Amino acid sequence: MSNYDIKDKSQAEGGRRRIDWAEREMPVLRMIKERFEKEKPLQGVRVSACLHVTTETANLMKTLQAGGADIVLTASNPLSTQDDVAAALVNIYEIPTYAIKGEDNVTYYKHITAALDHKPHMTMDDGADLVSTIHKDRRELLTDIVGGTEETTTGVIRLRAMSADNMLAFPVIAVNDALTKHLFDNRYGTGQSTVDGIIRATNVLLAGKNFVVSGYGWCGRGLASRARGMGAQVIVTEVDPMKALEAVMDGFQVMPMLDAAKIGDIFCTVTGDINVIDEHHFAVMKDGALVANSGHFNVEINIPSLRAMSIGDPNLVRPFVDQYTTKDGRKINILGEGRLINLASAEGHPASVMDMSFANQALAAEYMVKNAKTLEKKVYSVPTDIDNEIARIKLLAMGIKIDTLTEEQVKYLNSWQEGT
Ligand code: ADE
Repeated sequence: MSNYDIKDKSQAEGGRRRIDWAEREMPVLRMIKERFEKEKPLQGVRVSACLHVTTETANLMKTLQAGGADIVLTASNPLSTQDDVAAALVNIYEIPTYAIKGEDNVTYYKHITAALDHKPHMTMDDGADLVSTIHKDRRELLTDIVGGTEETTTGVIRLRAMSADNMLAFPVIAVNDALTKHLFDNRYGTGQSTVDGIIRATNVLLAGKNFVVSGYGWCGRGLASRARGMGAQVIVTEVDPMKALEAVMDGFQVMPMLDAAKIGDIFCTVTGDINVIDEHHFAVMKDGALVANSGHFNVEINIPSLRAMSIGDPNLVRPFVDQYTTKDGRKINILGEGRLINLASAEGHPASVMDMSFANQALAAEYMVKNAKTLEKKVYSVPTDIDNEIARIKLLAMGIKIDTLTEEQVKYLNSWQEGT
């Protein structure tokens, strides 16, 4: 494979225009890029990145490049690539990129292999596919690797499982742990972009619909609140009593999936787990149900079970909508092949939240290069001072001022003697 594999280089100019558009909403990353241009903290560091190939990711790549990194980029999902962005990365920014929207699984892993052939010093993952492939099949690369970063909840869960088994061979910074990441990207980013993806795929009216959100983590909370904002009656399903209780007190109906399956019009999984919507749920769903996923992997909806209870292949009734006809004559619509709908049929999270997520990525990469020698082979959170600094700069860029503690208040907070 040459040093890129993309759909169509001629789309580069359109990609560049959209990358510039996103950059305007990424002031924190812009500031980091300006400093990286001067200080070159990543000079000569080979980075293999496996991320969703979007306009926001392109701006992260430009930032790492400004810092002196030698980068290659591969897609972190077969259906999330923006082909015009991939074209711009290759043709304009000279960043080797392996990503084609709609690529099959074989091509997806070929692309991962190509990105690893770069012999990285650092990995940058969204879902831990690079780290997992290195540990399973490419252990010879471990000699050069000093560390990695991980973007998402699912990836961090996989890495912590590796670490618990004492299998992790280099330190990884869990970007998802940063408050400036998960409180904003997972909640407001997933909330808005998932609704956007479902609407772009179907043009459905949310007002008055029963909208079932499965999982009440940060992504689920964001999605439930945004769907309610559009007038849907939101039902939450959960397995964790604490989260279920929060959902109840946030004003949502909470019930088991089997009950929700009977009344839902629109379903979206955001759990990170497998077969959350399964055969017995499909068996009771209403005719015309829309079923989507916004979790990282396409395992949350048991599509093979739906196929087995359907007549023939599904019909592609609109882009990103596969309509299955069950043997009892109901139509059930699977959106985006069960892959993350916010990136399959929409553009992923808006740039202004990815600004903070990717500021964390850039600063975590710099931190890793500076501190790798002292770090153990473990999963680390983003240092709190980096997290706080990102929040400070983001507010500044938004033109929002806040109060500071007076000396008297600092003293009060640090004393234990004073009561009523
Ligand atoms: N994950 C979710 N939205 C994204 C985006 N716009 N770019 C990169 N990764 C994402």
